[in-house]
Amino acid sequence: MKTYVTVTMLIWWFYCLFFLSFPFVRLFVLAEEPYKSAIGDPGMRRDGLRVAIEAWNQCNEVGEEAPNMGSPRMADCFDVINSSPIKLVHKVNEEDNRLGVSNALFKRSSIMNVDQYAPWKEIYLGKKCQVEDQPRPWQFWMIMLKSGNMDTQAAVCPENGKKTQPFSPQPRFPCFGQGCMNMPLIYHNYTTPQGEEGNNSLRGSFYGTWDLDADVTKAATENDSSYYSVTWEKEVGTGSWLFHHVLKTSSKYPWLMLYLRSDATSGLSSGYHYETRGMSKIVPKSPNFKVRFTLDIKHGGGPKSQFYLMDIGSCWKNNGQPCDGDVTTDVTRYSEMIINPNIDSWCNPNNLGSCPPYHTLPSGVRIHRTDKDNYPYGAYHIYCSPGNAESPEEPYNFCDSYSNPQPQEILQILPHPAWGQYGYPTKKGEGWLGDKRTWELDVGRLSQSLYFYQDPGTEPVERHWPSIDLGTEIYMSGNQVAEWTVSDFDIIVPRDDN
Ligand SMILES: *[C@@H]1O[C@H](CO)[C@@H](O)[C@H](O)[C@H]1NC(C)=O
Ligand SMILES: *[C@@H]1O[C@H](CO)[C@@H](O)[C@H](O)[C@H]1NC(C)=O
Ligand SMILES: *[C@@H]1O[C@H](CO)[C@@H](O)[C@H](O)[C@H]1NC(C)=O
Repeated sequence: MKTYVTVTMLIWWFYCLFFLSFPFVRLFVLAEEPYKSAIGDPGMRRDGLRVAIEAWNQCNEVGEEAPNMGSPRMADCFDVINSSPIKLVHKVNEEDNRLGVSNALFKRSSIMNVDQYAPWKEIYLGKKCQVEDQPRPWQFWMIMLKSGNMDTQAAVCPENGKKTQPFSPQPRFPCFGQGCMNMPLIYHNYTTPQGEEGNNSLRGSFYGTWDLDADVTKAATENDSSYYSVTWEKEVGTGSWLFHHVLKTSSKYPWLMLYLRSDATSGLSSGYHYETRGMSKIVPKSPNFKVRFTLDIKHGGGPKSQFYLMDIGSCWKNNGQPCDGDVTTDVTRYSEMIINPNIDSWCNPNNLGSCPPYHTLPSGVRIHRTDKDNYPYGAYHIYCSPGNAESPEEPYNFCDSYSNPQPQEILQILPHPAWGQYGYPTKKGEGWLGDKRTWELDVGRLSQSLYFYQDPGTEPVERHWPSIDLGTEIYMSGNQVAEWTVSDFDIIVPRDDN
């Protein structure tokens, strides 16, 4: 009782102190902001946009370039000259964007296969788009496309980083036959000033389809053609870019993904064993960072659309060492909050293998998954242990062993009061259709509290997040449409981070 009173009084004392000194605190904050942006384009307000697009197959490679498209890495990067009328100086031309192994425009193609060429091209485009900045330069936002189709008989995707043998088709891997893992057609409307002279709005887009025989001008509306588009728009000198996304599945391509990523500007980002380029000039670190953005979902993408309000990706080995590109021991780590209210919890007291071994409260207290009275089962969609974990706690669940070049650990969470302290949705439906919101998510503290596997007795890693993104994964359902906009995106870190 005595301790209780003392603590209450202390809290009251700090409370008074805080409010009395508020004007001074504000002055101090103005003089020296305690936070800064980790990304090259804080809040998406820079007129001279830098944006790129990439396409991946089931295991995050190319496999085969789409006819006449070149390698699936393209960019739209320009500076704005404030003349009247406004002029744009583009940094990446059509020839750069169409570089690929199959059109042999570039000599290096002779010594690289298509999987190696794509990351090489990303770095090449990155050089053209790079903006000098402190503490280091940055390159572009990355739009990511992925198809989940997998040809099990072609055995192109490794299993947990190890080469596989062909196996017979299974319903969990869609494939309509040979060539089902193709790259999409990618078309590009370079950013241009719009409308009348004196109107300062800019617009550009990437769009296309995975159905190689479809007419792209009809694919958006035609039944059973896959389609995607990302259109960016902004008034020069004011406000944020607005990124408008559309993703549509077809019966041949029922499992498609479209994300907008802020990736690290160098090093390995997650899901990939090559150097990447991106927007995060400072790689945010748990527990001190926040992610802010405005999200307006207009169409959800159907009952199996796993819309990720926030998807964070990293990579470390089970022994706690950083990833180095060795796909047999590197482990990509993902956590996502799925906000589609149709998605249920697969973690429950009768299916403990799909729950992380423990849940950590904001206070640091751990609740074991066998504690039926206290464990928040409904806060978790699914947990998957790394496919190469040596001693995962029983019972465990491995999943998705083919969808990355290396083994992966996946922790998908759902809106639940357990996440309220971090600014995340606490109820199903929050932020969903018709509920446009500006989120400020304490991703840093949340990601610090989440369970991630390491081998017993190893030092817990410092958690860095080289990929922060949002968008949807429409899972195994044809003729579904998702449509949403993103603006004001920013990642905020302490002033002294670098
Ligand atoms: C691209 O430009 C063409 C020609 O102006 C236009 O018809 C089409 O709607 C544009 N596509 C997108 C996705 O902006
Ligand atoms: C400028 O043109 C665009 C596209 O034609 C239009 O949507 C926008 O409303 C115009 N803005 C102004 C300020 O006239
Ligand atoms: C669209 O195509 C799918 C797959 O072929 C078919 O099952 C469905 O009936 C079609 N819908 C319409 C409205 O034609």
